[in-house]
Amino acid sequence: MSEDLISKIPTSRRLVLDLGMGDGQLVANLSNKEKDSFHIGIEINPDRFIQASSSIKNQNVHLINDNFEKILPLFKDNSISQVFYILPDPKYIDKNHKPDLERFYKLLYNKIKKHGTFILITEITNELFQPVENKVLNDEISWITNFFESLGYVTLECHEGYPEEYTTSFLRTFSGDLERIRILYFEFIKTNK
Ligand SMILES: C[S@@+](CC[C@H](N)C(=O)[O-])C[C@H]1O[C@@H](n2cnc3c(N)ncnc32)[C@H](O)[C@@H]1O
Repeated sequence: MSEDLISKIPTSRRLVLDLGMGDGQLVANLSNKEKDSFHIGIEINPDRFIQASSSIKNQNVHLINDNFEKILPLFKDNSISQVFYILPDPKYIDKNHKPDLERFYKLLYNKIKKHGTFILITEITNELFQPVENKVLNDEISWITNFFESLGYVTLECHEGYPEEYTTSFLRTFSGDLERIRILYFEFIKTNK
């Protein structure tokens, strides 16, 4: 039961959460480097979850094969120090889903600690899979920053590309055609209580 698993997470340690971790490469890298933190990866796809859990054996890791929308409410408010969401499915980033996005990212905000951060890396493509123009990219940056700021997040960084240390399997694949698949990096912080 996911509820039981959540109750075993040590609350005294710095919690780092990866939403939709895929094969868990980011969780593996971060948990090797940040031994004092406790790393949680959630993935709904059973095959990807098995891939992650068979390759990550660190003691400071806890992996969950479930829907993160079901798991997130189980965390205490103000309990998570850092959240990663690398390459969200459209449902979790597309402006056409704004009411659902508001509900979900407001809940996430409540779960993040004061001064905790949310790192989002997302890709921009166009319907005809043509090169993405700068205007489209800049409009998307504005939309995403305005959206998160409307929920209380404060933007610390936003730019094209992403730090090497946050590479994942999907990011590596998506980085093969940087004109048609432009990658955006956002770092938000929670500043109030
Ligand atoms: C584009 S992949 C990115 C995977 C990984 N973050 C990476 O960059 O390699 C998106 C992942 O999110 C997972 N996912 C989508 N919705 C989810 C949900 N509601 N709960 C848990 N995982 C979800 C998908 O199964 C998929 O593995």
